[in-house]
Amino acid sequence: MPYEILEKRELGSSGAIYEMVLHTPLIAKKAHAGNFVLLRINETGERIPLTIADYNREKGTITMIIQVVGKSTKLICNQNVGDQILDVVGPLGNKIHIKKYDDPIVVIGGGIGIAPCYLQAKELRDAGNEIITILGARSRGLLIWKEKMETVSDQLIITTDDGSEGMKGVVTDPLKKIMQKRKISLVIAIGPLIMMKYVALTTNGTGDLPKVKTFVSLNTIMVDGTGMCGSCRFSTIDGDIQFACVDGPDVDAHIVDFNNLLKRAHRFLDQEKESLECYNNECRALEQLKREVV
Ligand code: FES
Repeated sequence: MPYEILEKRELGSSGAIYEMVLHTPLIAKKAHAGNFVLLRINETGERIPLTIADYNREKGTITMIIQVVGKSTKLICNQNVGDQILDVVGPLGNKIHIKKYDDPIVVIGGGIGIAPCYLQAKELRDAGNEIITILGARSRGLLIWKEKMETVSDQLIITTDDGSEGMKGVVTDPLKKIMQKRKISLVIAIGPLIMMKYVALTTNGTGDLPKVKTFVSLNTIMVDGTGMCGSCRFSTIDGDIQFACVDGPDVDAHIVDFNNLLKRAHRFLDQEKESLECYNNECRALEQLKREVV
């Protein structure tokens, strides 16, 4: 059964990030923070795992944020309202554990990782928790869902690398200040691997700050999302192997061997660039053919 795109909008000013709302009533009914879906645009399309960034059970919709990286994400982002996606499977992955904590929770989103933070902050706040949100981006134009995050945060702090919005600096700057002043129950960080690594180093209790339980999402390292391709495997500091799509995507930040993960992080970048280039060339050739026929 194909799934209709009900809404589509571009986010930020990069021209590469889109928000899409899909009509998927059965998935919307069961979705929770932490879940993802597998999406296949057509018969020959590859499966793409995407985090459920929001859901509306009444309308039967889920929202996803998609960044154009390779051919498949470009194909999806080229779809418009009213178009259909062939397969959407989910919700998959482990939902996060929701409970009332004694002290505030710090939710940290970096770049496109801000989107999955929204649902986690929302469900935890609905459970009565105080949410302090820190959002980080390279510059103002790359900051997404600021207003939406405001609606689920008791306090919102923005950092940008260039200082074009909020504090100039990185997300761990305000995190350290908060941890110096207040007791924190939980930290959740979703964003680039390097950001999550430094959040984990800040909260692991090895410096002069107290240890705080911290979860990170390894959604970006998943490929087929089914536990079969092995792409999302990561080493723990004890030498065990886990899989983000089976054991996560949200995992204890303090067990992840980030140095090992960072070494493997960009291994498909060349192939993604190549397939995107081929797709762009095909599109240009098709446009040329259309012009010649007309
Ligand atoms: S994404 Fe393939 S095994 Fe997890």
